Amino acid sequence: MRFVFLIVGVAIILTAGVAWFVLREDGSRTMGKPELSSAERGKFVFRRCQACHAIGENKKLTGPGLAGVINRPSGSIEGYRYSNAMAALSVIWDEKTLTEFLTKPRAFVPGTKMGFGGIKKPQEIQDLLAYLVAEGGLHDAEATQ
Ligand code: HEC
Repeated sequence: MRFVFLIVGVAIILTAGVAWFVLREDGSRTMGKPELSSAERGKFVFRRCQACHAIGENKKLTGPGLAGVINRPSGSIEGYRYSNAMAALSVIWDEKTLTEFLTKPRAFVPGTKMGFGGIKKPQEIQDLLAYLVAEGGLHDAEATQ
């Protein structure tokens, strides 16, 4: 009988250990870990966008889908109701424009309805862009978005 308790005890400790390890890998604590690639770190930064943006398939959430957003003209998802400000903006979303936009969305597009304050750390934006490329791919001008 004691032996059974011992086995169960060891199993519980092992499970807790694995859970701790997995959870520890989660969230912002991975930031700045040199063993992770930029895109891997960017995945964690993307959590701040996830409430409003999908990236796998361009599902419409509050914000337009971000699959293939790199090299995509701004305000170009058909059927998405952009603010007048975003609809009037005419840029290609690349490293330069996205960095400026994501640093201070409301400064880059005054009147945008994107309710997001911005990302202060340049490294986080770089990581995020690496993730957007890795996960969402580049815009394909031929494909109908
Ligand atoms: C609270 C919701 C919300 C959050 C959080 C948010 N966005 Fe947005 N985003 C929007 C909305 C809404 C729009 C449409 C803006 C408009 O029409 O003015 C938008 C527009 C955009 C656009 C322009 C897309 C296009 O088709 O032109 C990009 C790029 C973008 N967001 C990236 C991001 C990224 C990257 C993050 C995370 C760092 C983020 N957003 C966080 C709601 C959000």
